[in-house]
Amino acid sequence: MTPSPAQAPSNPAVLGLIGNTPLVEVTRLDRGPCRLFVKLESQNPGGSIKDRIALAMIEAAEQDGRLKAGGTVVEATAGNTGLGLALVARAKGYRMLLVIPDKMSAEKVLHLKALGAEIRMTRSDVMKGDPEYYQDMAARLASEIPGAFYVNQFGNPANPQAHERTTGPEIWEQMQHKVDAVVCGVGSGGTLTGLSRFFARTSPSTEMVLADPVGSVLAPYIETGKIGTAGSWVVEGIGEDFIPPIADLSRVAKAYSISDKESLLTARELLRSELILGGSSAGTLVAAALRYCREQSQLKRVVTFVPDTGGKYLSKMYNDFWMVDQGFIELPRYGDLRDLVSRRFDAGAVVSVGAEDTLLTAFQRMRVSDVSQVPVLADDRVVGILDESDLLLHVYKQPERFRDPVATAMTNRLETLDPSASFADLLAVLNKDRIAIIVHEGRFFGLVTRYDLLTFLRRNLP
Ligand SMILES: Cc1ncc(COP(=O)(O)O)c(C=O)c1O
Repeated sequence: MTPSPAQAPSNPAVLGLIGNTPLVEVTRLDRGPCRLFVKLESQNPGGSIKDRIALAMIEAAEQDGRLKAGGTVVEATAGNTGLGLALVARAKGYRMLLVIPDKMSAEKVLHLKALGAEIRMTRSDVMKGDPEYYQDMAARLASEIPGAFYVNQFGNPANPQAHERTTGPEIWEQMQHKVDAVVCGVGSGGTLTGLSRFFARTSPSTEMVLADPVGSVLAPYIETGKIGTAGSWVVEGIGEDFIPPIADLSRVAKAYSISDKESLLTARELLRSELILGGSSAGTLVAAALRYCREQSQLKRVVTFVPDTGGKYLSKMYNDFWMVDQGFIELPRYGDLRDLVSRRFDAGAVVSVGAEDTLLTAFQRMRVSDVSQVPVLADDRVVGILDESDLLLHVYKQPERFRDPVATAMTNRLETLDPSASFADLLAVLNKDRIAIIVHEGRFFGLVTRYDLLTFLRRNLP
């Protein structure tokens, strides 16, 4: 049946929701004498600022004939650009192939796959020039696939143009034509370059301020004119180990290097104080914007961004255990084996079961909390440990035994250590494939597994 004109295939209306994002004022964090506004790019349909450039770059390629019906869109991306491109490519019926470095959050990868994108994972520990470097790999793949269009956001003029034509004018209108400074990060440089051009024309006194992760070469380049050696950082989407070809940094008046710890704690504070769920880079941008604001001696109207939504980072920066494991949140130090316990019983952080619970309950609790073993507690005392192999041995021939009580499958030969025990004592326990139960002054304090010991050693790397 031929669809009526009203039902004929057309671009899904969701593409019309890209851009025109809301701007809200920060009212609780300390802004010194300034007013600070954040533009919620997290509200784009793909969840980030990159939806804007995805649409612009694909439409530019359609217009100049580099992308035709049935073509393949290829890009190297650490995430959000991929989500934007996957959204637009899907809407317009193109195949989407993405090369991504392996440090990306699982949520982003799953989101890309759910949108139907094909993923090639590559190493995140190699530099430009290495055949496994994600951008070099994407360029190679695009040259091999007939009808492929290599987007190359790092060198694509439609990227800064999207911001010059949409993001800049939106800010200008939303701020009633009064903007003293714009604080932004650089991934490809598209945002900064596009906004620099827009404000150079429209309001030359508006200052461009760079927010950059410690480890990136960009902020040191602004300060010293030299490109140093890049380090590493966990904030996603911004910071570079080179100066992107499209990045025009000439209008940057001031640059701030923000540590991962300050970025992540600021993003968490942004949620608690302002109720805005931003990604990790929102922390970097807001931290830099707050520093800029507090350094001013008179009122300035400052704009920054929430470049993407925090929903993708819930299991990382919004997860206290991850923050502790990474060393971004410090727990009190005791100078003994208690320092190795990541989930403390007195803090309510231990996932446990009772001896009378069913094995099904225990298994579900282990799965939800992503742990391989649980202590079995009776009146705050550890009476057993149940791990995956105990469980498997018990049920593998008779799955109905999932209904048996935990007591029937747990180990009750327990290895208890006082916090003052030595590392050698701890290793002796772990080497027997057992878990150390730390008991302090007669009270259960927490467990130490091999993973905890490895995490502790890594955290204390000199
Ligand atoms: C997550 C994220 N992606 C992208 C960008 C902007 O990058 P680009 O320089 O590519 O416009 C930012 C900027 O703050 C960001 O935080």
